[in-house]
Amino acid sequence: MTFIAIEGIDGSGKSTLSRRLKSYLEDKGYRVFLTSEPYGNPLIREEWIKSGSVESALKLAISFITDRVVHSRKIAERIRKGYIVISDRYFLSTVAYQGLNLKPELATPEKVLSFLLGISEPVEAWPECTIMLDVDPDTSVSRISGRKGRSPFEEKGYLEDVRSFYLEIANLIASDRVKWKTLGEIFIIKSNARRSEVMKQATGAVSRFLSGENQSQ
Ligand code: TYD
Repeated sequence: MTFIAIEGIDGSGKSTLSRRLKSYLEDKGYRVFLTSEPYGNPLIREEWIKSGSVESALKLAISFITDRVVHSRKIAERIRKGYIVISDRYFLSTVAYQGLNLKPELATPEKVLSFLLGISEPVEAWPECTIMLDVDPDTSVSRISGRKGRSPFEEKGYLEDVRSFYLEIANLIASDRVKWKTLGEIFIIKSNARRSEVMKQATGAVSRFLSGENQSQ
C-alpha cells in the first residue's frame, strides 16, 4: 500500500504520534504495520558519537544505513501485502544526526543529502510521505529528561543543531520535489502544541496525502 515515516529530534513526540496514527488509520479500515529505527543492532560506539568527527559520522551513517537495508526488506514485504507501514524514524534521521557532522567536509546540505542517498542504494523501501515533528529543544529535553535508557545523542546543544539541519533538509526536499522524488512528500508539523492539536494536524496531512494518492491510481 504505502509507507509513512515519522521524523523529528528526540522528545518531539514521534512514538506517541506513530501509535495514534496507527489506531486512526485502522479505524478507517486500513491494515497498518508499525515499526521503528534503530531496527536491528547498528554498530553505535559512544566514542564515535562523542567525537563528532567526519570519520565517526561516516562510520555511524554506514552502520545505520546497513541496519536500514535489512529493515527495508521487511517494510517492502508489508507494503506488497497491502499494509500502510509507519516507521518511527528512517532515512532522514541519518541525514539529520550523522549528516550534520559530515557537512564540514561535504560543504552543502545538497551534497550531504546526495551522498547519503547514493550510499543508500541497497535500501528497498522509501517513504512516500514523511511527517516531521518540529519542537524546540527546551521542550524536547524536558520531555525526555525523566526517561530511562536515554540515547547518547540527546544533548541539548547537539539537538539544537540536529533540529536546524532537519528543517534545512526538509525545506530543501520540499523546494525540488522532482530532484528528490525518492524521498516523497514532507509535512512539517510544530509539536510544541497540545498532543490533540499535533494529532489533528498530522491526521489531516496523512488524509490529504492518501486522498491524493488514491486519485493518481
Ligand atoms: P530513538 O528514536 O531515541 O530510539 P529509542 O526511542 O528506541 O531510544 O533513537 C535512538 C537514537 O538514534 C536517537 O537519538 C537518534 C539516533 N539515530 C541516528 O543518529 N541516526 C539514525 O539513522 C537513526 C535511525 C537514529
